Amino acid sequence: MSRLVVVSNRVALPGETRAGGLAVGLLAALRERGGLWFGWSGRSVAGASGQLHEQSDGAIRYATLDLSRADLDSYYNGFSNRALWPLLHFRLDLVDYDRSKREGYWRVNTLFADRLAPLLREDDTVWIHDYHLIPLAALLRERGVGCRIGFFLHVPVPSADLVQALPEHRSLFSTLYACDLLGFQTRRDVDRFRSWARLFGGGHAIDGEHIESPDGRRVRIAAFPIGIDTAHIARQARAATGNSAVRALRQSLQQRKLAIGVDRLDYSKGLPERFHGFERYLERYPQQKGSMTFLQIAPVSRGGVAEYRTLRSDLERLAGHINGGHAAADWTPLRYVNQNYAHSTLTGFYRQAAVGLVTPLRDGMNLVAKEYVASQDPDDPGVLVLSLLAGAADELKQALLVNPHDLDGVADAIATAADMPRGERIERWQAMMQHLREHDINRWRRDYLHALEEA
Ligand code: G6P
Repeated sequence: MSRLVVVSNRVALPGETRAGGLAVGLLAALRERGGLWFGWSGRSVAGASGQLHEQSDGAIRYATLDLSRADLDSYYNGFSNRALWPLLHFRLDLVDYDRSKREGYWRVNTLFADRLAPLLREDDTVWIHDYHLIPLAALLRERGVGCRIGFFLHVPVPSADLVQALPEHRSLFSTLYACDLLGFQTRRDVDRFRSWARLFGGGHAIDGEHIESPDGRRVRIAAFPIGIDTAHIARQARAATGNSAVRALRQSLQQRKLAIGVDRLDYSKGLPERFHGFERYLERYPQQKGSMTFLQIAPVSRGGVAEYRTLRSDLERLAGHINGGHAAADWTPLRYVNQNYAHSTLTGFYRQAAVGLVTPLRDGMNLVAKEYVASQDPDDPGVLVLSLLAGAADELKQALLVNPHDLDGVADAIATAADMPRGERIERWQAMMQHLREHDINRWRRDYLHALEEA
């Protein structure tokens, strides 16, 4: 088996406690085959970019780069998170394109290629992750790298008409032809990339699974819906019921039902719409008033980007407005928390919640939806209310699927979830859980790497 080289903007360095599900899956693969994880060090420095830090942990080597404040501002805050992120989440209204930011993005990708190329061996398998590093494969090829290279996009692909609005979209997205395998979250993302390739990218479909680039490269393209570590999360959630934070939450509810949402504070997650949907539920179902508490955990994210700061203050106002209008002396309907919790604690919170609210306006997959399901008590599971516009909705068909823009629909789904008989809850949960067991994170990376090795 060839050595695996993972490249991503964020690297889960040893000893960092916040490693999420994806990191866990990648670490397992790196450990199995021996490997290198390459990316940004997480540090922004006053001087120039490019200081390389190397460390090892068992069979895994880590190589991470410091970035200067200016590079980070254009590559990460500027182009990745103010142009690509909104574009890829169908939010043309929020795209803030700036040529100098785009240049910074290419400069950092070029730096990555310059530093990574000398570390690569001929028979390595390179796996590049996400929208921060779209041109990297092509830049590596320019430096003579001939080994297998795969790319996986964790976020959605919008329709070609939206992509067309990004200046220089052709030169950016056509760099992906340098890869041997392009992986997307869902079949619909694959189809939309194929249609962009046909309309604008000079590529033609050879068959359902391959496109040929203008210079004759054959690229395999397929959907690999990402999973979670299902068995581990189920165990963790069971064990977490004794955790002091989970016990304290349970006691504080005073027999009331809990609805929970856990999201990075990001406009793609549909938090204002969710708050309004919950408010609509309080208005439409006055007889249920006081019987449920909604806990929204939303750790602050990308605070260097203006749209995220605006969202934060909007949510603060909205939370105050909802509680002001509906709270009673002994009950606060909405608990809005920016604090981040340990992953194991969150699984305990999920298990406590009768309703899981996952209502993004767009999401590549959404792993919270999957983790909420995996955390439930098999004898008394909660109900997932899930946005139709999340990739996870293609798989979790037994959730209560809602359109997050339809506030009445969200309100009705919350009421239905709160009252759902146990038999129906168990039936829906079992079907989803079986799917999550069969399609877990290990299967995801094995399927992907197998396809890359075949490509
Ligand atoms: C999304 C992206 C990831 C990113 C994560 C956290 O899930 O697909 O690539 O790492 O958000 O965002 P951040 O900007 O903090 O890395």
